[in-house]
Amino acid sequence: MYRRFLFGTLALLLGAQSKDITGTWIANRTGPMGDMEIVYELKVVNGKITGAQKMPFGDSPIVDGQFDGDDFELVVETESFGSIQKRVVKGKIVGDTLEITPAMPGPPPGAAPPDGSPPGGMRAMTSGPLIAHRGTPTLTYRAPSLDYKTLPKVELPALRDIPSNGLAKTPPMGWNSWNKFRTRFDDKTVREIADAMVSSGMKDAGYVYINIDDGWQSKRDEKGVLQPNPNFPDMKALADYVHSKGLKLGIYSSPGPRTCAGYQGSYGHEEIDAQTWAAWGIDYLKYDWCSASRVWKDTDMQALYQRMGEALQKAGRPIVYSLCQYGRSNVQEWGPKVAGNSWRTTGDILDQWVSMERIGFSQSDFASYAAPGHWNDPDMLEVGNGGMTDTEYRTHFSLWSLLAAPLLAGNDIRAMTPETRAILTNRDVIAVNQDRLGKAASRIAADGSAEVWARPLDKGAWAVGLFNRGPSEAGVTVKWADLKLKGKLKMRDLWEHHDLQSLGDSYTANVPSHGVVMLRVTK
Ligand code: GLA
Repeated sequence: MYRRFLFGTLALLLGAQSKDITGTWIANRTGPMGDMEIVYELKVVNGKITGAQKMPFGDSPIVDGQFDGDDFELVVETESFGSIQKRVVKGKIVGDTLEITPAMPGPPPGAAPPDGSPPGGMRAMTSGPLIAHRGTPTLTYRAPSLDYKTLPKVELPALRDIPSNGLAKTPPMGWNSWNKFRTRFDDKTVREIADAMVSSGMKDAGYVYINIDDGWQSKRDEKGVLQPNPNFPDMKALADYVHSKGLKLGIYSSPGPRTCAGYQGSYGHEEIDAQTWAAWGIDYLKYDWCSASRVWKDTDMQALYQRMGEALQKAGRPIVYSLCQYGRSNVQEWGPKVAGNSWRTTGDILDQWVSMERIGFSQSDFASYAAPGHWNDPDMLEVGNGGMTDTEYRTHFSLWSLLAAPLLAGNDIRAMTPETRAILTNRDVIAVNQDRLGKAASRIAADGSAEVWARPLDKGAWAVGLFNRGPSEAGVTVKWADLKLKGKLKMRDLWEHHDLQSLGDSYTANVPSHGVVMLRVTK
């Protein structure tokens, strides 16, 4: 008994000495969401592990964990598109590395993804263990991990209808940093994007907003004013530069204490943040739920979005207000009441056909909620990011235009192919998106993989998309009776840019696999 105890203690001491995993470990992984830095901050005391797992889409506290011999097991509390889940991470120490099978955000086991991610798409990223080395994270401006239970309380306002801000009479058009750059971008990138917006002809085609997404923040100063990190040395100067090009500047925050990528959020600082942005000359805010789900319930969402809606109006500058809470809690019903100009209807898009297809073709039921000043937002464009064919990107752009969705390019517009540029600047298609009636398309017919979507346009015209979601070329037919149209019709093919006529009761086009024929139809 005594010998066993002695050996046990000796082994524990030796083991603990040579195999301590306390410290910061970094793994890099490329996956459908781009290059990712995954950080494990671990502290081991008597075999019990505490700390955090940090990913570009959030920090997850380690709520339980054991280290035993070479092996460890962590219970990580993840937040994914508004739902909190506990996930087990297993790993072992091998030489001076950790081999880790991480907990990824995603749907609860067995459930359909709440977003556009392909089934298994996120999980595919976990194939094979992560190899982590001791090191220093490169994303150094992220805020420290938080104990959410000890936060000071924030008062929720009584619900009321805030008057509309009068902005975004047609869907906002612009660019956003997230889809291409994640948090690896800076002042120089944003200025160059603004330059490219002008030189590429995108500004002339109607794009206005240059939107900085997550990753610009550092700490609050002693007065509580949120500071940009050194990648953005002077936000006012950046806004001035963007304005000097005839463009507008957007920014990003969260009602939670942390943003989705683990930076400072606006929790309890709504008014001071709105004033800061107004003083910098910000014209657009994307307000992303993220860590708010660690503090509040979905039923509190409207009040929290109202809190920022009120703060923006008090700040006195016209700022487009874009709600991002992944379509939870029937946001389309109350988005306009908090003076929201757009609201996300889905989780995050990925640069993959399956993701774009699942999001885009699931939007029909939202059509009646779109109106001038208030838009459904099925997430930003992936056109030109390389994961789809140009045919698929034309489908993406056509569908988003028909849906009256914000057109926020998400590619590196400084270096795009002529094909990408042609898609993003197709004025005939953009004119559908920007039609002053502001009516969104819905699915009017479906036959297997063939789908017809249509929306009414100003002056009695219609925009019609003939889509082929199938694996080979197919005929797709629109029956004019479905649109209460008949007789001789004038049509313009919005991708081929030529005029056509229809004399019969229907029109059939041959549509390539994953492609579209988009028409503007008038009597
Ligand atoms: C969420 C949003 C994305 C992006 C990231 C930033 O995932 O849905 O569009 O803003 O956060 O961290």
